[in-house]
Amino acid sequence: MTEIGENYIFKTAPIPGTPEAMRIWVLGDFGRGNELQKMVKDAYVDYTGDRHTDVWLWLGDNAYQVGSDQEYQDIVFSGEWGYQDILRKWPFWTTPGNHDYLSVDGYYTNPESTAGPYFDIVHMPTEGEAGGVPSGTELYYSFDHGNVHFISLNSEVTWILFEESVMMDWLRQDLAATTADWVVAFFHEPPYSKGSHDSDDAFEAFMTGMRENFLPTLEAYGVDLVLAGHSHVYERSAQIKGHYGLSSTLTDNNFVDDCNDWTNKKEPYYKRVYADDSLKGTIYVVCGNGGSQDEGAPLDHPIMCSTDDGIGSIVMDVKGDTLISRYLNGVGEIVDEFAIVREMYPVGMEDYDLEVKEMGDLLLYPNPTSQILYLRYYLSKNSAVDMEIYDLSGRLIYTESYKEAEGKHFHYYDLNQLQLSKGIYMVDLKCNGVRQLRELIGVY
Ligand SMILES: [Fe+2]
Repeated sequence: MTEIGENYIFKTAPIPGTPEAMRIWVLGDFGRGNELQKMVKDAYVDYTGDRHTDVWLWLGDNAYQVGSDQEYQDIVFSGEWGYQDILRKWPFWTTPGNHDYLSVDGYYTNPESTAGPYFDIVHMPTEGEAGGVPSGTELYYSFDHGNVHFISLNSEVTWILFEESVMMDWLRQDLAATTADWVVAFFHEPPYSKGSHDSDDAFEAFMTGMRENFLPTLEAYGVDLVLAGHSHVYERSAQIKGHYGLSSTLTDNNFVDDCNDWTNKKEPYYKRVYADDSLKGTIYVVCGNGGSQDEGAPLDHPIMCSTDDGIGSIVMDVKGDTLISRYLNGVGEIVDEFAIVREMYPVGMEDYDLEVKEMGDLLLYPNPTSQILYLRYYLSKNSAVDMEIYDLSGRLIYTESYKEAEGKHFHYYDLNQLQLSKGIYMVDLKCNGVRQLRELIGVY
């Protein structure tokens, strides 16, 4: 990190493909020039402290009411509500919202136009300068940061109403070309929402267009996460697939994972890269409340696991095979969180539904791992359990003893908690005279 002047910080992005730990801040519908905008910003600044923000995503409707240059200057880049202090150190990447277009005449009739203050102000890569297939336009583009590929789509143009368009052609090429471990797409209009906008409403042609025309392609190429704003609420879905109609058409077959409880049970969504297509899905998150608030929406879309009609933003950490996303409200409380553990290496698929009958059957997952470790085993009777971890020199790194009842058991550990770093370890589990040794590979 190089300091180039007081409070001006520049940090070079990691080499594409490098699984370096990164912090992402996701902010939507923020430029209101009000106290709410400032609360959300202050909550994040306090939360992240000295932790550098590697990627700051703007989900559109960045400046209200009409996205004029004056509004951008007054409430985004300066003044009481602006981000001028943190813009000196954290780079942002953006996607346009409907309000960013409102000061531009005739955008519906000319989807290829980049006229107007939004496109004058932002400078997004058009030639693949930061990775990805060159889009040739700031209307939509992609970039890499570490082992994450980010795609910004323009949900405000008439292309999205059709199955085929130049944006779709580029999207297919871009998705086919990326070799990143993670793929995150972001655009303004949410394909699913029951917030201040309802994705079942016939009036919401652009939300419907994104869902019907773009989601099949995003899912077919294994996009992990879709982020959107526009609806002034927070909504986080289950891992789903193949649901492109109204919410009334949703079936059990659309669910890959149920609403996994990370907060209490440390259950992540598993991204099963090597599995059958029926076990692969995408998680959809709406966060359009970085300064805008509409209370009283039903928030009852059936794919959603967690919702909030307050204000807030998303703090996301990606490290190797693990993504942890936290929704931070306007007073600095984490009110929702989820994790995605991505299968980086092939493991036997039979392990997912292991019907263990014998004492033991210790499974470590993921392995190799960078941040999270699960131990799963079976006890055929009530047992005293000793769990120990050694490094290859035989040094005891971690030990734990406890009593457990008969049945299947899951234990979750964070590698930091176990004080494990990059290297090879042995996990040694003893229960009622049965001993099991497993090799564990830490990739950090
Ligand atoms: Fe919007």
